[in-house]
Amino acid sequence: MAFTQEDARADLVAAPGSEWWRTAVIYQIYPRSFADASGDGLGDLPGVTAHLDDLQQLGVDAIWLSPFQTSPQKDAGYDVADYRDVDPIFGTLADFDAMLADAHKRGIRVIVDLVPNHSSDQHMWFQEALKAAPGSPERARYIFRDGKGENGELPPNNWESVFGGGMWKRVTEADGTPGQWYLHIFDESQPDFDWTNPEVRAEFRDILRFWLDRGVDGFRVDVAHGLVKAEGLPDFTPDPDGGSMGGDAEEVPYWGQPGVHDVWREWHQVLAEYDGDRALCAEAWLPTVAQTALWVRPDEMHQAFNFHYLETEWDATALRDVITESLRAYGEVGAPSTWVLSNHDVVRHASRLALTAENPQGAGIGPRSPGKPDPVKGLRRARAATSMMLALPGSSYLYQGEELGLPEVIDLPDDARQDPTWFRTNGERYGRDGCRVPLPWTADGPAYGFNDTGESWLPQPAEWAELAHDVQVDDPSSTLTLYRSLLAERRARTLGAGHLEWLDQYGDEVVAFRNGSLLVVTNLGDDAVELPAGEVLVASGPLDGERLPTDTTVWIAAA
Ligand code: NOJ
Repeated sequence: MAFTQEDARADLVAAPGSEWWRTAVIYQIYPRSFADASGDGLGDLPGVTAHLDDLQQLGVDAIWLSPFQTSPQKDAGYDVADYRDVDPIFGTLADFDAMLADAHKRGIRVIVDLVPNHSSDQHMWFQEALKAAPGSPERARYIFRDGKGENGELPPNNWESVFGGGMWKRVTEADGTPGQWYLHIFDESQPDFDWTNPEVRAEFRDILRFWLDRGVDGFRVDVAHGLVKAEGLPDFTPDPDGGSMGGDAEEVPYWGQPGVHDVWREWHQVLAEYDGDRALCAEAWLPTVAQTALWVRPDEMHQAFNFHYLETEWDATALRDVITESLRAYGEVGAPSTWVLSNHDVVRHASRLALTAENPQGAGIGPRSPGKPDPVKGLRRARAATSMMLALPGSSYLYQGEELGLPEVIDLPDDARQDPTWFRTNGERYGRDGCRVPLPWTADGPAYGFNDTGESWLPQPAEWAELAHDVQVDDPSSTLTLYRSLLAERRARTLGAGHLEWLDQYGDEVVAFRNGSLLVVTNLGDDAVELPAGEVLVASGPLDGERLPTDTTVWIAAA
């Protein structure tokens, strides 16, 4: 008998334990760089299906797929032209359904990315808006305004795009005259929707239902802090030290506006109509953990990415503080904390944790960047950091390739770069291509097994042969084996549902805690420290006899 989508979901609904998202380890798939079944150099959905076995063996609970919907790919799919279809470069809706059913059959839940702040300029609505007159209902779905100056030749305000340059673009009206301006927080090919318009709200509720009806387990919500803009669109000059995607200390008129919470309450209701604990995860870059916790109040989203944790430097006190604050702030609103170290927007943590200059985050690193990371130190720290993270109570996110210990690719040739940040800043900021290079699956295959043609949308470094999945899978000391061991032990000891108790007898430069039957000790100091008594279950690196060396984490069975 054929295995249907409903059968697959029925298994998951009946799975023991509710609210799976409170404790899940969720693996981010960046489809264009994961695996390429068609051989055109861009990954696709059949490529994902082909590697579900590997993800099951890795031991993750869920996958999150970055956008695969129809898109001209000006921002790698975060510019959606049709929210209800799959872009041909990634496959078809049937490929999606097959991937979803196969994942569910293996007990792996599937979250899809939803991009509600903006569409592509190729979206039908935006094309209609361009043809329609100022003040028309078609224009009212986006943020069109008259320009300032005698002839409207100046942008409506001084806001600057996250990707560099201005946040407004002037259009040419149907009669050929220079016309209104539209707002784009990101690239000019990504016009912002007007979320005060009920038609926009209704359309997105319907898009949610389209994917929920297909059986998805939830959504990662792009730019969840940006949908609502301050009344009157007042001028604003960002703090030069603030984060590129938000996170400035002061109030920013396009981030974190209170009206956004009504949208999440509406969406929460839509998900609640469906069985099986579907979940929303906010991508919200905000100044403090306490502010981010507002996104996960009981009637809003279920999770928010903990970017404060991701942005914490490799420092024992800073880590203890952010963990304590996260458990407190999210706990106060009844939400789990999430934990994350890497994603497709930031410098991979196997490089970031060894940078000696300030972490440039979404601006990326490249050949001219100061403070280049030492790869050996970076990987040692990354393994220690992940080993700490996966022992924390709550839900953790992994980014494809970190289980192979992949570093950021620093030396990409300029003519290979594709991030709009690179173009909009005339090469001043490298952008995020360095964390998006296609995965190496086999040491000897074409494009290291990414496909069987050798095509790759970004060049892969020769050193990646040694990091390929097939090289690591049977090597007891590999990063892949470490991840598999951590995930198996985390599952066996239900660490995600546990409770953290700090242990302070190891000194300031050591992070040590107990979670249920597990002791976790990370040494961030220069000198080795004595190991606690007990059976060593997992170590992120070689031990020095009875001592725990620098930048190493150990999991020990508590007496
Ligand atoms: C956040 C996404 O993670 C990033 O990749 C994208 O460029 C922006 N949002 C715009 O959608």
